[in-house]
Amino acid sequence: MIAQPKPHILFTRDEVEATVNRLAAEIRQDYHGKNPLLIGILKGSFMFMADLIRLLDFPLEVEFITLSSYGRGRESSGQIRVVKGLGAEVKSRDVLVIEDIVDTGLTISFLLDYLGQKKPASLKLCALTDKPSRRKIPVAIDYLGFTVPNKFIVGYGIDWDERFRYLPDICFVEVEN
Ligand code: PRP
Repeated sequence: MIAQPKPHILFTRDEVEATVNRLAAEIRQDYHGKNPLLIGILKGSFMFMADLIRLLDFPLEVEFITLSSYGRGRESSGQIRVVKGLGAEVKSRDVLVIEDIVDTGLTISFLLDYLGQKKPASLKLCALTDKPSRRKIPVAIDYLGFTVPNKFIVGYGIDWDERFRYLPDICFVEVEN
């Protein structure tokens, strides 16, 4: 059996809650009355998305998209494709993408290009965490929760090898590469 690395807390559940509240307030201000289309990227965004939309007390639509990276283990191969697409039209909508972590930027860059080709009225990004030290492609994050160090981030929906998504705090694990 593979040894289970021990998670260490980076941001407590209370800090996460306060940050999600802050992001929701910013989003409420910008999107109230626009009936935006919020698109969560599975699987990592599910917990963040669920907490965030509970705080958005105006009409909006929710969609999810599943992307995958060929040959992906714990590292992105850089070749992204859509595994499960959207059920809603993107054209002329105010689209807000909800992501759990921007690492190399390859996943989100692919998705923003993909959605941009569908001619939305506007297209913005809300990311719970950002790891700028690993960036390969520049990414503009319109609503950002936390900047994180170059460690394996887990918890609050984010996995390491499909583990630790259930943790209520944002944590990191120290593992051998
Ligand atoms: C993770 C995360 C982001 C992406 C970020 O997803 O949820 O979508 O990697 O990495 P990048 O900036 O280097 O592209 P993953 O493919 O691990 O799938 P998951 O959301 O199902 O955990």
